[in-house]
Order: sequence, then C-alpha cells, then structure tokens
Amino acid sequence: MSREISRRTFIKGAAAAGVVLAAGSYFTWNGRNIPEKVQKGDVTYDVLIIGSGGAGMRAALAAAENKDLKVAVLTKLVPTRSASTMAQGGMNGVTGVTDPNDSFESHAFDTIKGGDYLCDQDAVEYFVERAGKNIYEMDYMGYPYNRQDDGHFHQRKMGGHAHARAAYFEDRAGHAMVHTLFEQCLAHDIDFISECQMLEISMAGEKKDKLAGVVAMDMRSGNIIGIPAKTIVIATGGYGRAYWVRTSNPYSSTGDGIVAGMNVGIPFKDPEMVQFHPTGLSVNGVLLSESSRAEGALLVNKDGERFMKKYAPEKMELATRDIVARGIATEIEQGRGIGEGITAGVYLDFTKIPPERIHQRLGQVADLAKRFAGVDITKEPVLISPTCHYSMGGLEMADFHTGETRVPGIYTAGECSCVSVHGANRLGANSLSEVLVFGHTAGDGAAAYAKEHKYEGSQDQLTKDSKKWLDSFEEVTSRPHDGNRTVPEIRDDMVKTMWFKAGVFRNGPDLEAAAKELSVLEDQYKNCYVGDQSHIYNTAYEQYIELGNLLQISQAIVQGAIARKESRGAHTRRDFPKRDDKNFLKHTLVFKEDGKYRFEYKDVVVTKYEPKERKY
Ligand code: FUM
Repeated sequence: MSREISRRTFIKGAAAAGVVLAAGSYFTWNGRNIPEKVQKGDVTYDVLIIGSGGAGMRAALAAAENKDLKVAVLTKLVPTRSASTMAQGGMNGVTGVTDPNDSFESHAFDTIKGGDYLCDQDAVEYFVERAGKNIYEMDYMGYPYNRQDDGHFHQRKMGGHAHARAAYFEDRAGHAMVHTLFEQCLAHDIDFISECQMLEISMAGEKKDKLAGVVAMDMRSGNIIGIPAKTIVIATGGYGRAYWVRTSNPYSSTGDGIVAGMNVGIPFKDPEMVQFHPTGLSVNGVLLSESSRAEGALLVNKDGERFMKKYAPEKMELATRDIVARGIATEIEQGRGIGEGITAGVYLDFTKIPPERIHQRLGQVADLAKRFAGVDITKEPVLISPTCHYSMGGLEMADFHTGETRVPGIYTAGECSCVSVHGANRLGANSLSEVLVFGHTAGDGAAAYAKEHKYEGSQDQLTKDSKKWLDSFEEVTSRPHDGNRTVPEIRDDMVKTMWFKAGVFRNGPDLEAAAKELSVLEDQYKNCYVGDQSHIYNTAYEQYIELGNLLQISQAIVQGAIARKESRGAHTRRDFPKRDDKNFLKHTLVFKEDGKYRFEYKDVVVTKYEPKERKY
C-alpha cells in the first residue's frame, strides 16, 4: 500500500471518529476486543487500568466498587495471559491459619532483611498488615487453595521466611489468581480492551501536566486509538525480557509502562535491582518454582554435595534468592557444575519427596521438567541454573497509601511499580501478595481522584498524539532494508550484553562496556529495519516498540548499576563486594529528560529495623 493512499484514508478516518485513527485502508474493526463505545470515541473512562495481570485486575475491582465510575482494563494480551499467570509458588500473608506463631513483625523483618535493608520500612509495615486479609478475600472470591484437613487453606514456607505464610494452589498460584480475579471483573461489568499495545500516555495543557488518556494500537485492525481517561493505573509488569537469553518471564515483559511513565516525568526507581531466580531449567531458563525447595527438593553439585551449606549454613536451600543464585553460579564457575556454557547447571533433586506430594503440590514443575528437559523428577534430578525473574525496581510510587505517582491522575501497582517493599531482593511469594495489596490500594486511590476531579485532558491532544504514531508507523514500517540491522539482530545483541555484563555478578569495566554497547544498539535502533507493512497483527511493529522500551530499560539498569558502587541484595559488584550503608542506604531515581537520564538519590525509610549484616 502506498503512503499516499494511507494518508488519504487517514484523513477520512479522522473526520469520522475524533480520536480513532485508521492506519491505512483498514478502517474497520476486526473482532470484539474493543468495546463499541471506545470504537465510537464516545467514552471517557474514570479509571483506565493498563495491564491485566494480578495488580491491574485487583485495581479494576477496587475501582469498580464505585458503581458510578466507568472502569476499563487495557491489555496488549488477552486478560488471562498476563505474566502473573506464570507465578508459581504462592502468596504470603499472616493469617494465623497454618502457623499461629507468625506475626506482622516477623513478616516485616524477613522482608526487610531479605531486601538487604533497601526496603522502605513504613511501606513494608503497611504491606504485611494487609497481605493476610487479601488471602481471605481471594478465598471468598473462590480461589481454589490447597487445603488442610480442617478445610482452611494451607500455607508453606518459602525462602528467607521464618514461618509458613505462603497460601497457594499447587504450583500454579498465579494462574489461579488471574482467573479468579478475571471472573470477578466480568461480574463487575468492567470493560476489557484487549490486544491493544499502549504507545503513549497522552498529556495535555501548556505544561503537558494534564492527563488526556492513552494512545494504543489495536493489534487486530492496526487502528490507532486515543482513549480519554481521568486517571490511569499503570500495571504493566516487569522487564525480564531485557535478559532474553535466560528469563522466566513471558515475551510480553518488556517494560512498556515504565518507559511510558518515564516519558511523562515519573522516575524509574532502583532499576539496577534485578532478581535472578536460582532455579530456572538449565536448558531454557523456564522457572521451576521455589516451592520445590519448600517441599523438600535439594540442591546438589556434580560431586553430590549439598553445597548450600557453604553459602547459607542455617537456611540452606531456603536462603534468599540472591544468596542461592550466587551459590549456584559460583559452583558452576568453579567447575562443580554439570555441562558447559550457558546451559551448565547443578542438580535440583526431588527424589526424597514422596511422588504423591509432587503430584499434589508440584504438578506444573513435574510437567515443565518433563516437557523441556525430558526428566521425570520423581525418578532423577533435573539441571537448573539462575534465570532472570523479577524487577525490584519500577515506577516510583510516591504515596503507598494511594498508589499515586508524582504526576497527578497517574497511579501504579505491581511489578512495574516500585513501592520499595522488596528493596534489593524480593522474597518468594511476596510478589503476588504485593500485587493484591497495592493493586487494591491503587484502584481505591484512582477512584477517589476520579470522583473529585473533572476530566482536564483534551481529545484534540489525543488526536494529535495518535496522528504522530500513525506517521511513525508509516515511516518505520516502510523503511527499506538498505543494510540496516533488524529488530531481532539488535535484540539478540542487547540480551547478550545484559546477561554477560550486567547479570548475577557485575563489575565496573563490564558495566561500562555494557553502557557503550547499548548506546551503539540505540543508534542502530533509530534506523532499524522492520519490514512488515501490514496492519493486521503487525507483531513485527509491536516487537519494534517493545525493543525500544527494553533498550531504555537496559540502559537504566546498567547506569544504575555503575553508580551503585557496593554489593546489596541481587546487585553484586565483584569490585565492591561489601554493602556500604554509609553511602548507599538510598534509592536510585532515574529521570528521563530530553532523551537523557538524570540521576537523583533518596534516603531509605527506616522505622525500627536497624540495618545489620545478613546471615542465613
Ligand atoms: O519460585 C516461585 O514460585 C516464584 C514465586 C515468586 O516469584 O514469588
């Protein structure tokens, strides 16, 4: 299709529907993924949630408790395919059910110590006081917990915890959570705008400080949509795909919401804090849940030694993830692993766990090991090694009582946010509880704001921003190859740089080299070849957008890591092996200004848990 034809059609399309811009001649709606009122451009949402994982859907439910508000969830996927679905181990909370001796104080202490004292302790106290209540709430919503003989949900003890506090459904805790929440969202008549890739948060006004809404691309038709909203909640998940070489994250974890948030002035907090989960399948990085070790699986090196006794003599396999991941990486590095190169690993041995228990509680783990590694875990150990799993950093949540960011009308929750409850290393099963607690909080916060404020944005602005994206789509997809690099080529270089130079172990020269390599890739990205000019399901263009986001995220991780000259939690600098509370008991804040990064630092909030050396 020629550029002229698509421009003519655009003009017709723009006249027909104020904020809906048609890419090319595909000015038809294809499928029912977009509610009709959005297609017609005659709805302004009070609360528009971006992302349909646990945090997004919990936020939607909280907002929809206000019957007079119009609430929608926009997702680039279909709602039940979000990354939360892949969470395996459980959700923590003090409930008094399985372990009556547990307490808020103990959960807070474990979380803060686990986070290597980079947690804001007031936020952690707020979190632990609400986490147990959320487990009960999910029970009332119909979550299919594994149960004790007395009918109560059962809780297990994950790494770094002093008590059994993770409630779960087998090893599919996230899957069950997402489906339970989705059912409730349907019952509450929440709109879903599916398979729409967010392109930009649109801001109106002279100072660009009034939220207009969101510009998104409907993947089914190629239409570019401006959706007006009084408030938005960014709940788009993490960015593990920056480490594509080995990650437990789905293809969709590309940091879209963080970059969109940075573009409107929200800082990216603690980007250097990336979690490497100890037990990814060695063949491909797919997660084998920490609940494997909670149920009794052992870590063993090639000499048959339970090596964790050297790294965490008390907690052994159930030490925190950063410590276990470093232990495994060290064993492999020092020649006590099995295999060579990136697929080398150590053994995760389930053979002491009764098969009956594996079937009841670790069915997915057994299935994944069989499918991807060809191993029957009831009979033989499986090879594992660390895999990129979770981002402790994210968009700064300015007030954890409301979920708001420092930009009025914009809220955030879940993995894309940084409330600072996980600090420098998150504990197993604290993530699902965090999405419930702060998803709820952000939904309430956004609803309260929407009730008190008029829509201050402008549809003209949304139309302008949408047109800008339509032009960009045309320009990017019609570029000739001309020897330019392709999206997959740039991506493959980026992920190698990230894994090998900003991975489990880091040092100054490698990080500096990574920053330079990323700059070269950023330059190549500006002219990269996309190739596919079609409008229907143009996943090549979507991947181009996602790569642009990942490059920015990666540069922030690396620059944050260069500046943090200490080792803390998951951030391990071989050239600065000690934690340095004097200089670095503070959060990194990255602001994007004129396309460049500016760094600020902010003190960690300490209430009553004085920073101490961690021992497990
Ligand atoms: O290992 C796991 O099951 C992961 C859980 C989590 O990240 O919280």
